[in-house]
Parts: sequence; structure tokens; C-alpha cells
Amino acid sequence: MASPPWAGAASHEQYFVLLTGANSGVGLGIGQRIIDEFLASRPLSSHLILIPTTRSASKSRDTILSLRAHLKKTSKSSKQLRARAGPDYDPQSAISRVHVLSVQVDLCDPRSIYSVAKQLVHGKVSDPTGVIDDVRIPRIDVALFNAGIGGWSGLDWLCLAKQFVTEGIVQSCTFPAFKMAAVPRSELDTKKLLGSSSKSDPKNQPPKLAEVFCANVFGHYILAHELLPLLSRSEPSEPLGRVVWTSSVDATHEHLNFEDFQARSDKPPYESSKRITDIMCLTADLPSVQKVSTPYFSSPATADKPIKPRFYLSHPGVVCTPLFPLNWFLFYAYCLVMYLARWLGSPWHVVGSYAGAGATSWLALADQETLDSLHAERVKWGSAVTRMGHVAPKKTEVSGWGWEGKVENRETLKRDDAQGILRKERGRKWNAGDTTEDLLVEFEEEGRNCWSRLEKLREAWETALGEPEGAVANGHSA
Ligand SMILES: NC(=O)c1ccc[n+]([C@@H]2O[C@H](COP(=O)([O-])OP(=O)(O)OC[C@H]3O[C@@H](n4cnc5c(N)ncnc54)[C@H](OP(=O)(O)O)[C@@H]3O)[C@@H](O)[C@H]2O)c1
Repeated sequence: MASPPWAGAASHEQYFVLLTGANSGVGLGIGQRIIDEFLASRPLSSHLILIPTTRSASKSRDTILSLRAHLKKTSKSSKQLRARAGPDYDPQSAISRVHVLSVQVDLCDPRSIYSVAKQLVHGKVSDPTGVIDDVRIPRIDVALFNAGIGGWSGLDWLCLAKQFVTEGIVQSCTFPAFKMAAVPRSELDTKKLLGSSSKSDPKNQPPKLAEVFCANVFGHYILAHELLPLLSRSEPSEPLGRVVWTSSVDATHEHLNFEDFQARSDKPPYESSKRITDIMCLTADLPSVQKVSTPYFSSPATADKPIKPRFYLSHPGVVCTPLFPLNWFLFYAYCLVMYLARWLGSPWHVVGSYAGAGATSWLALADQETLDSLHAERVKWGSAVTRMGHVAPKKTEVSGWGWEGKVENRETLKRDDAQGILRKERGRKWNAGDTTEDLLVEFEEEGRNCWSRLEKLREAWETALGEPEGAVANGHSA
């Protein structure tokens, strides 16, 4: 079997990126942006191996073809690439540095998650277009957890009118109170998810899974754990593995009820799942939370790799995608209002998927020193945009945590030295309060609570599916 096209490059010049939900919306934008920014910023001898995930082989094929078409276009039209490579620039030299393969996973099906993890850790990744031979990957440098669903059924028009009148366009379009969660909330069929495992022990039924919770948080939570052999490192000299989680600008304290953790009845499931993502990610490294999160990062699968990956948190701003179910007329009206909000000064209305990919692709490609100097793991990074369309990663307020896990109030905000759209007060929820010591303590407590609930759920599903701890590392089959 032929060696992969990047085999000649040194290990540190190979960059392996996994991207979930890559066939549509922001995910496709992230794939395109990573290609462009990788080519523009990394050494001319380095290679990008991009592994988008989709839910079917045909979607994988289409995604690969679409990303390759983008690569071709960029390689021909980018002035930056020409300037870097000099007068003899050959677009083929850029094309030959980017390789797109794909795997399939359904994040609402734990068996599919265990199976794709085994494929990535022990098996081979394939290219459904047949250009690249099946190949084993040695590690994942960055896993970008973008896939997600909304779980809404439509708009509450009365509420919309009221919010527009009382709060104005920008606030209403950033923190909408008028999206209606589908009723009844969709739950996954445990028996179907367990498959043949359910026959072996009928008493061994794990807790039911709500669809939005599973697609947006829990599926990725299992996936990151199972991919630890590829994301963890043996030596401090090796670049850290990164996991970038996707949240939303609109995920606040009121959106999560711990008594209804999967949002089966009370809170809106989408916003609730994003609030869990925020809390879980921002607290992962806090000392008191580590007591609960350590088993997650130190499975037998990583006994020889004690350096765990670092979690980062991002959101794309507000982007017009199929995430919210709208007919074509309402979709175009929605896009128009989004542009209007941007022109009125909203930093979060990026509108397009490529622009919405800004924060995530920055977290994926920034060098580790830059991220460490910013304590980037303590921040929720959003894609922000100027009126003219210039995109930059911006710190986002998280209720109870502030912008950086520090006390913030009117006085500290006056000392904010950021400029323009990057100022903390730009894009803030109109009724957001100060971040106090008490709230920070409460947030950390919520972190312990989230981690402990997620861990219990993961262990229950692992047991029910007969996935012994470290199964992926040992190559056991489901
Ligand atoms: N659009 C926004 O304004 C906005 C704002 C804040 C956050 N976000 C976040 O951005 C991310 C991408 O959303 P989007 O707006 O780009 O929506 P989208 O166009 O609907 O894309 C969602 C992607 O997730 C995939 N997906 C859904 N359920 C899945 C599952 N069970 N298993 C595997 N993949 C699954 C979809 O695959 P299929 O095509 O097979 O369904 C699709 O590729 C989401 O996490 C969303 O919460 C979006």
C-alpha cells in the first residue's frame, strides 16, 4: 500500500484536525477557513490532514469534494499565498499540502461513537473519493466539536413582537426569547441504541438520553474520552492536543436546571446543552473540579500518556444556517435582519458561515504560546465582526464566570483596554450583572455538578454497552 502523501514531512509538520458536523453551515465554513489559514500561516513544508465527520458516506464524499474545490480556488486566487511563495508560485504546491479524508459518526448513537473512535485509534481512515489510500493516523492535534442540533419547532410571534419593541433589534436577535422548543422533547430509544447489548442483561438499562443533549454535549463528551489515546501526550515537549467545544452566545444561567439536566421538560434543550458545554469546559481544569474530572482524562487507555488534551470553548456568533427551521421566505428575511443588526453595531452578527468559523479556526491554529499567554482555556471565544465584515475572536461573557473567570463590575469594565468590537461591553446582554466572588464559587460548584453527572452517565452507557474501560486502547470490539 502506498504511503500517504504527507509521509515525507517531519512529524511536527503534519497537522491532524478532526471536525464534526462538517457537511453543512458553520462546520463547512470551519473546514474552508482552516484550509485557508493553515496555508497562509504554516511553513510551506507543512501538511494539513483534515478529517471531517458526517453522518453518511455520501455526505462525506460531498464534503471532501466541496473542501477540495475550495482548496483549488484558494490556491489559485490567494494573493497571500503568492506573496509567501514568490514569483514562481505554483498553486499545485498549496494543493499538495492539504489532504481531506472522512469518517462517519452519529453523535446520537453511542455505538456509532465507540465504533468511530476505534476506527480512528486502531483502524484506518478512508477517503470515499478514492484519491488517498486508507491510512492510520498517529494522533489528533485538534478535535473541533461543531456538530449540533437546535430542537426548535418554530417562532412565538407574539413574544418576538414584544421583545423587538421592548429590547430592540440587536438584543432580540442576539438573545432571542421567542424560539419555541419542540414539544414533546425528543428522546432516543434506549433499546435501539443498545442493540444486541440489551439482550444480554435486561436489567442493565442506562438512563435515557434526550436527543439535543446527546447531539450537542454528551455524544462529543464520550467521543473525546474515547479519543484520548490520540489526543493525550507522553512528553511535555510534544504539542498539547486540543479539543474545541462549540457553544452559543445565548446560553445563560437561567437556561440550565440541574433537576432536569437533559432539559426533558423544563428549560429549552438547545440553550441548556450549550450552558452545560460552557460550564463543563471552563471548569475542567479548576482544582476542585479536577477531583471529578480526573477519571475522565486518565483511563487505562492513556496510562503511558499522562498529558491530557486542553479544552477550549468557542461560539460562531449568529450565523444564517439550517440550524433553525425556517421556510425560504423567512430564511431570507432572517438574513436581512441579521445584517441590519450588524449595521446597528452588533459584534455577534457575523451572518456567513466562513465568518462564523473565525473563533474556532483561530483556536485550532494559534500557537500554544499565544493561547497560554491569553489563558485562552478560561475564555469563551466568539466570532465577532465589524460593520465592514472584519472578523476577530472576541471574549464572551458567561453568566457567573464573566469573561475570564474573574470578578468584573462597572469599575473593572472601565479599565478594559480592548478596542472597538473587542471591548467587553460591546454585545453584552442588556441585563447582565456583575461577576462577583460568590458567583464564581457557585460556577465552580456547578462545574463539579456537571462533570459528576456527565461522568455517571458516561459510565452507565459504557457498562450497558459492554465497553470495558480502555476498550478503545485495547482494540476490543463493541
Ligand atoms: N447558526 C448559528 O447561528 C449558531 C449559533 C451558535 C452556535 N451554533 C453552533 O454551531 C454548530 C453548527 O451549527 P450550524 O448552524 O452550522 O447548523 P447546521 O448547518 O444544521 O449544521 C449542523 C451539523 O451538525 C451535524 N449533526 C447534527 N446532528 C448530528 C448527530 N447526531 N451526529 C453527527 N452530526 C450531527 C449535521 O449533520 P446532518 O447534515 O447530517 O444533519 C450538520 O453537519 C452547532 O453546534 C450550533 O449549535 C450555531
